[in-house]
Amino acid sequence: MNFTLTEEQLAVREAARDFAQQVCLPGVIDRDRTMEYPTEQIKQLGELGFMGMTVSPEYGGSGLDNLSYIIALEEISKVDNSTSVIMSVNNSLVCYGLETYGSEEQKQKYLTKLATGEWIGSFCLSEPEAGSDATHQRTTAVDMGDHYLLNGTKNWITSGGTSSVHLVIAQSNPDAGHRGINCFIVETSWDGVEIGAKEDKLGIRSSDTHTIMYNDVKVPKENLLGKDGSGFKFAMKTLSGGRIGIAAQALGIAGGAYELATAYSKERVAFGKAISDHQAIAFKLADMATDIEAAKMLVYRAAWLKDADLDYNQAGAMAKLFASSVAMKHTVEAVQVHGGYGFVKEYHVERLMRDAKITQIYEGTSEVQKIVISRGLLKGELY
Ligand code: CAA
Ligand code: FAD
Repeated sequence: MNFTLTEEQLAVREAARDFAQQVCLPGVIDRDRTMEYPTEQIKQLGELGFMGMTVSPEYGGSGLDNLSYIIALEEISKVDNSTSVIMSVNNSLVCYGLETYGSEEQKQKYLTKLATGEWIGSFCLSEPEAGSDATHQRTTAVDMGDHYLLNGTKNWITSGGTSSVHLVIAQSNPDAGHRGINCFIVETSWDGVEIGAKEDKLGIRSSDTHTIMYNDVKVPKENLLGKDGSGFKFAMKTLSGGRIGIAAQALGIAGGAYELATAYSKERVAFGKAISDHQAIAFKLADMATDIEAAKMLVYRAAWLKDADLDYNQAGAMAKLFASSVAMKHTVEAVQVHGGYGFVKEYHVERLMRDAKITQIYEGTSEVQKIVISRGLLKGELY
């Protein structure tokens, strides 16, 4: 086993840390309060090559490995999780999906713009009545001969108000169940694409989450992604990797809270000494650091498996399940270390605590991760 990061991975970590401090930190509290979209941050992420990090340079990407991408997400998530979720969806779901399953024409037309950050992409699977139960798609895409006719509603779509391209999962052949589901590349400028109001959320408040309505949208035949009937498996395979990205986000949230709590505990004096010299506080820091290190092992290993072209489905689910629980638990502890100051916006830990919760919900709830892990175990796919 080699736990040493390469020169390239270390350089990515440094660049991401700088970006988080110089570009994300200024204004992060205000953007959270006002729900202002991180326009400048996303623009600069594109310029840095962070919107298509693992995409081949042939299609405008940075051609980096998955571990570098995961490390970048982790660092940015220590500070700004609205920016990191937009980055994660664009990289792990949209660019990965197009590069892995798209035709050469689709890659030239769409991936080249998405990987550079010129366009932002959304991944549209969830519906008002199909969240965890994702095979129950009510959105339909009827084959009309020369095009598909798309109708339906998608819920909770990240970047829904800003994206130029949607990867939309829809049912084309209900008799075939999940094998009748397809994925389509839909441009948001097309007639019939209607964007609902921006959600007012607990956390990741400056990311834009919208309901999207598709009303008789004509989708050209060439915008079917992959083979007819492969849309559900496409979604599942793509999410297997996406979950490593959200696990990295959770890892970053926990790490950011730990760093803030440690620094604060060394400065804050109570009963004549720094609170870090009170064992109750020092032990909290020890528990945080240990859990974060364990989460890091799971998250980095899942990324390593992906880089090694080995199966990462259960490993990604385990990483997300564990890292998101560490993020939730230790952001609460970081607020506790800060006492009353932790309860106000200025000290950042309350925002991280609010942001942590979503990592246990999106890209499959913690219960869904346990379904994925246990099914793998029972099929003998692990250990
Ligand atoms: N890779 C390939 N195929 C897979 C697969 C995978 N990882 N997982 C399942 N499949 C296949 C199965 O083999 C099966 O196909 P066959 O019948 O041909 O064998 C088919 O998919 C259906 O699988 P299941 O019977 O296991 O399906 P299920 O109805 O029991 O559901 C589930 C399984 C894991 C719960 C799945 O529905 C799921 O992942 N739900 C959660 C959805 C989710 O994560 N949504 C996230 C939306 S995107 C998002 O959230 C972005 C964001 O916030 C930022
Ligand atoms: P439900 O599926 O209704 O679940 C409710 C509860 O029941 C959960 O606790 C769940 O774990 C539990 N439950 C359900 N089924 C089972 C079971 N079989 N066993 C045990 N427990 C179960 N989706 C997209 O497609 N694209 C996006 O970009 C996107 N971005 C999002 C951004 C935000 C801010 C949010 C809040 C959501 C986003 N989502 C997105 C949707 C997200 O993936 C879903 O919310 C999530 O998959 C859960 O679905 P649901 O909300 O319908 O909850």
